[in-house]
Amino acid sequence: MKLVQTLIISASLALLLSSCGEEKAGGIEPSVYTDSLFAVMKADRTNYTKLIVARLGPKGADAIYPVEHWKDVENGAPLPAQMFRAGSEAVRDLTDKFTYTLQSEWPINKQNAPSTPMEEEGLKFIAANPGENFYGTEKLGDKSYFTAVYPDVAVAEACVSCHNDHKDTPRSDFKIGDVMGGVVIRVPL
Ligand code: HEC
Repeated sequence: MKLVQTLIISASLALLLSSCGEEKAGGIEPSVYTDSLFAVMKADRTNYTKLIVARLGPKGADAIYPVEHWKDVENGAPLPAQMFRAGSEAVRDLTDKFTYTLQSEWPINKQNAPSTPMEEEGLKFIAANPGENFYGTEKLGDKSYFTAVYPDVAVAEACVSCHNDHKDTPRSDFKIGDVMGGVVIRVPL
């Protein structure tokens, strides 16, 4: 009887522990988690640029057009990077499970420059190794993070021409297909 009881208790404990484990991280590798998040971000970002921004333009006084200071203009629409940041800020209000930013070694907006050694290392890696992603772990304050950096590629002519011609750009030789910067996704461990 005693043995049976012990067996039942250990079995229930094992079950409880295994289901806790599943609930905790869903058993998902951090890189699979961030890869999936990035796939959604990249799809939305590319679609916004190709399906909306590239089709808007000065078609008349009332037409909506993409412009950096879109908030100050009656018919202004946000640029792709501003749309991306709006998403990132909205996500920050919804969850603390991850954060993401769009950055570059050659930023038009200095606030989009890397701000930690790992971000810098990641941006350099993806620029030097086209098609590859960067993964690492970093400690900020007393917290550890899984940090992934994904290439942000010039997928449309609009990306290239707007950046190359911008008055604040530190680089004006971007071509279609170039890595222009990176998406940094950070997950607290
Ligand atoms: C019409 C102009 C315009 C277009 C089109 C455009 N960008 Fe930008 N991009 C900007 C401006 C301006 C910023 C800075 C915006 C901010 O942070 O408020 C920016 C920011 C960025 C950044 C962050 C670093 C930085 O330069 O500040 C990256 C990376 C980037 N863009 C890549 C791209 C890619 C890739 C595309 C095409 C999918 C694209 N951009 C399309 C103007 C443009």
